[in-house]
Amino acid sequence: MATTPYSILITGANRGLGLALVKCLLASNPQPHHVIATSRSLGGEGSKELEELAAKESCLSVLQLTTGNPATFSTLVGDVDGKVKEFGLNVLVNNAGIHIRRGLEDVTVDDMTQTFATNTIGPLMLTQSFLPLLKRAASHASDKPIGWQRAAVINMSTILASISSNNSGGLYPYRSSKAALNAITKSLSVDLLKDGIITCSVHPGWVQTDMGGPNASVTTEQSVQGMLELFAKLDKNSNGGFFQYDGSVMNW
Ligand SMILES: NC(=O)c1ccc[n+]([C@@H]2O[C@H](COP(=O)([O-])OP(=O)(O)OC[C@H]3O[C@@H](n4cnc5c(N)ncnc54)[C@H](OP(=O)(O)O)[C@@H]3O)[C@@H](O)[C@H]2O)c1
Repeated sequence: MATTPYSILITGANRGLGLALVKCLLASNPQPHHVIATSRSLGGEGSKELEELAAKESCLSVLQLTTGNPATFSTLVGDVDGKVKEFGLNVLVNNAGIHIRRGLEDVTVDDMTQTFATNTIGPLMLTQSFLPLLKRAASHASDKPIGWQRAAVINMSTILASISSNNSGGLYPYRSSKAALNAITKSLSVDLLKDGIITCSVHPGWVQTDMGGPNASVTTEQSVQGMLELFAKLDKNSNGGFFQYDGSVMNW
């Protein structure tokens, strides 16, 4: 990685792609000053590996976050503010997500509501909550070019959100929640560029995590190495874009 931001927050970082992103950032040279990893639960088996890492790495903090519970966001923002201080938060990675596999016959209101709360509404409201810290980072790093060293919001999307590539139907909660997340990415990119903050959506590939399953074609290491290289190259021209982990442009 050619560059790293001063601070970066990754949601859903106790396992899967979020944890792999944290590990890859910790292995980067230079390390960010603050890697803030959030986990839905703390102190149990589900976050053990992440919390053990934090005990060894002074730049890593682990904080609690349930993305579907916006009432708790102000506490998280206050905790992050106390860490990053006048530097602000450079990068927010909205990674946490769920994939409830439902077709037309079995999809329920609860499936749709739960999925939108986690995959769509959570990232939007979390971005809103972190705006003061993102703007502070963009202003503090105004000598840096537009990009993740200054300020960026990265939304973890999926190829299944692509409306033009959908030839197999089904998967109503996941596809629609992530397509709506892509619409949010686009609006954020228009609204926040004037503040020096860029936004993009990323498809991490079909990755070997609990969500992707063991038959997925891409390892977590391949995916996160590609994504971090992509993040380091983001600029004004990438603002509002939808990219695959290898940097190629995705169809909306
Ligand atoms: N793997 C793939 O092939 C693939 C492909 C395309 C896109 N993606 C996207 O990439 C992102 C990461 O996927 P992954 O493969 O790493 O999935 P994963 O292994 O299932 O991990 C999902 C993460 O999100 C967290 N999470 C779920 N619901 C949450 C909530 N309400 N609040 C806070 N955290 C919550 C989980 O926490 P718990 O441990 O507490 O459940 C876990 O940390 C997702 O947005 C997914 O849609 C993945």
